[in-house]
Amino acid sequence: MRTHYCGHVNESLIDSEVDLCGWAHRRRDHGGVIFIDLRDREGLVQVVIDPDTEEAFANAESCRSEYVLRIRGKVRHRPEGTVNDDLASGKIEVLAQQLEILNTAKTPPFPLDEETEVREEVRLRYRYIDLRRPAMLENLRLRSAVTQALRETLDANGFMDIETPILTKATPEGARDYLVPSRTHEGEFFALPQSPQLFKQLLMVSGMDRYYQIVRCFRDEDLRADRQPEFTQLDIETSFMDEEAIMQINEDMIRNAFHKVKGVELAKPFPRMTYEEAIRRFGVDKPDLRIPLELVDVDDLMKDVEFKVFAGPANDPEGRVAALRLPKGSDLSRKNIDAYTKFVSIYGARGLAYIKVNDIDAGIDGLQSPILKFLPDETAMAIMQRTGAESGDLVFFGADKAHVVNEALGALRVKLGQDTDLVEEGWRPLWVVDFPMFEKDPKTGRLNALHHPFTAPGCTPEELEANPEKALSKAYDMILNGSEVGGGSIRIHDARMQATVLKLLGISDEEAADKFGFLLDALAYGCPPHGGIAFGLDRLVMLMAGANSIREVMAFPKTQAANCLLTDAPSTVSEDQLKELSLRIRKTVVES
Ligand code: AMO
Ligand code: AMP
Repeated sequence: MRTHYCGHVNESLIDSEVDLCGWAHRRRDHGGVIFIDLRDREGLVQVVIDPDTEEAFANAESCRSEYVLRIRGKVRHRPEGTVNDDLASGKIEVLAQQLEILNTAKTPPFPLDEETEVREEVRLRYRYIDLRRPAMLENLRLRSAVTQALRETLDANGFMDIETPILTKATPEGARDYLVPSRTHEGEFFALPQSPQLFKQLLMVSGMDRYYQIVRCFRDEDLRADRQPEFTQLDIETSFMDEEAIMQINEDMIRNAFHKVKGVELAKPFPRMTYEEAIRRFGVDKPDLRIPLELVDVDDLMKDVEFKVFAGPANDPEGRVAALRLPKGSDLSRKNIDAYTKFVSIYGARGLAYIKVNDIDAGIDGLQSPILKFLPDETAMAIMQRTGAESGDLVFFGADKAHVVNEALGALRVKLGQDTDLVEEGWRPLWVVDFPMFEKDPKTGRLNALHHPFTAPGCTPEELEANPEKALSKAYDMILNGSEVGGGSIRIHDARMQATVLKLLGISDEEAADKFGFLLDALAYGCPPHGGIAFGLDRLVMLMAGANSIREVMAFPKTQAANCLLTDAPSTVSEDQLKELSLRIRKTVVES
């Protein structure tokens, strides 16, 4: 139907005849001559329709926004003064000889320009039109280029692309499962995979050696800007490679993708940081290293102070008292500080003490704070010294159980960085390593796997059982600008170790056999040492696109309430379908 894409027509085609297809982006009637900007995936070209070409002109007169057209015409220079340097095709135009309307279009629900702010609900309802906007098209093009670059490295390194089932059994990754009722097995359900974790381990038992898959995963969890109920992982598993080798090959792959797609050279090698250091300095296990603010421990200075808010946690083995210095923060208003106090309360903080540093050289008289009266002068000055405070700074404090302080000050650190323009430009990848094997649920006191129950510890089963809370795992997370883009580990390949871990997690033999007996069986049939990683492809592309939500890099995402506004899924089904599945809907009764 066509000889060229609209966006590819340029000066090299002057005087040639071209056939173009696309959408009428804009139509201008200059009384006598009609101009149509014709748009396709590759860009825009200006088409000129002269009244001399009668049929074409009549069609152009009836043409409206987003009509689908085919035109035949001759490429010529634009007249002096009408050149548009913003367009690849800006130096030329096409004088139409024929203009055919291939299809009409209703007026679009919103203009396809970049200026108009359109509510996301409307964009998602008409996603097929939203995707015509250049920004969305670019995001999907970028996504395609990224997957191509990632596959390139994996193919070159002998990884096999192997598919795993979608209708399967629950995979324990910590979220709720999406379930699919079985028609042929009354009362039984498939689960959609939270990840292909167990299957990729089985593939290693099979001897596939190097596996990858770009695969959809399903997790019914509370959604945020960087989480969707169905999302895509680049899932990888290898045999006979240790953590070092796995991290190496994966960071090379990500470096190659940034180089190829964005022309960006990431640090080589990626820096590494232990989990303990990340939590201590940044409060989180996915630090954004672009923000030059750090948490500083002051527990030792607070043990004997009269101020109970600080002394309590300072003397509690599970407590923490930490300071966060904001350079030039002393001009924050009372209102600002109240807003930050409210912000940290989301994370459970019961307050946000602070000291303003008006003049560091004036000693205690140069400080200003409602809590100074509770602190000995030497303590206040020791805090100033430890945090490196200068005149004009402000020092915030968090005091509580360590996990509350970490979460609250960790989030405050990022917020302050953004609010005060402290976020540095660029790309700051790192590996976080030496994760604890388990974390204790503060409510139930039970141990939970920090990664998943198949992650290998760095010690023997006996050592693990003797001191489970101190044990570290062979897990690693790849962090980029404060986002966890990937996570993986060396797996347990030994049945005895696997049994020990399951026991510590409080999973009985019976439950283990029922849930993943097939994996435990497989470990007994010559399972090689193996390990792998999975990347959140949507998150990676979101970062590369500079987007602020993964929805911006997914063609058909769901809302925060986990529904699809385009298809109206999920939706009810007929009585007959329910009957076939032996299901009856039990409506939730709201008690009054
Ligand atoms: P994990 O659960 O850490 O590991 O997931 C790997 C990566 O997937 C991305 N991710 C998500 N992206 C969008 N929406 C979600 N709801 C979502 N959940 C996770 C994150 C995360 O880093 N089987 C293990 C991997 C392994 O051990 O090899 C796993 O799934 O970027
Ligand atoms: P109060 O004595 O409760 O009025 O608190 C004095 C100051 O300490 C206020 O600025 C509070 O915001 C702050 N504060 C109270 N509890 C905490 C806490 N757990 N961590 C940090 N600051 C706190």
